[in-house]
Amino acid sequence: MTRFLLVTDLDNTLVGDQAALERLNQQLMQLRQEQDILLAYSTGRSHDSYLKLKATEPLLDPDALVTSVGTEIYYQNSRTPDPDWSRTLDNGWVREDILAITAHFQDLVLQPASEQRPYKVSFYLAPHLASDLVPRLKVALHIRGLDTKIVYSGGKDLDILPLGGDKGQALLFLREQFDISAEQTIVCGDSGNDQALFSVGKERGVVVGNAQPELLQWYKEHGADYHYLATRSCAAGILEGLHHFRLLS
Ligand code: GLC
Ligand code: MG
Repeated sequence: MTRFLLVTDLDNTLVGDQAALERLNQQLMQLRQEQDILLAYSTGRSHDSYLKLKATEPLLDPDALVTSVGTEIYYQNSRTPDPDWSRTLDNGWVREDILAITAHFQDLVLQPASEQRPYKVSFYLAPHLASDLVPRLKVALHIRGLDTKIVYSGGKDLDILPLGGDKGQALLFLREQFDISAEQTIVCGDSGNDQALFSVGKERGVVVGNAQPELLQWYKEHGADYHYLATRSCAAGILEGLHHFRLLS
């Protein structure tokens, strides 16, 4: 039996075209009978916000759920994140100090409390301000000894994360848990926070056709032969990618 790990972002990747999602679900359920397929969702949403999405969308239960831009990992239906993963994120991460610095940047608008997580501080930022503000913010944090990862997605969301904690690092951790290689893994995404999924190793990657400019730009500059840019959107793009990588015939 072939083992495979399928990792997909949710909003505007797996979710966005319900009819296509239902078609993909059907194919995955069939595939799961013939092959050992592991399914993981990797989302920027918090766990609570994932549950809200699950209430309205036909989402298959995943084997693992990575939330809050890679900073929390849940297995099956567990409600507590993997403590071993959380522990690795502690290094150099002082949330209050980060907030003290960001308070000086008035263009950063704090996202709702539900999206502020132990290892994720999130803001809204207008796109025309990002190219000037992000490097200044990086320097301001660095000077205070706060080496973090700053991720800008969809021309509106700015996340500050621990250096070792993005979707890509979480994927590496997950692959180790499942003992599965990069070559046996397919990742799918549409926006800036998914870039880490495509650049962590040689995982097969599907960029859906409706991807945001920042991910398309990244693909143009760094895309490799194990990456595939779909022409279709959302779940239809994932289906196209699964055919491309011959997981579906
Ligand atoms: C999701 C999260 C938000 C985050 C964004 C980009 O929308 O809810 O907090 O900023 O993804 O990663
Ligand atoms: Mg998305």
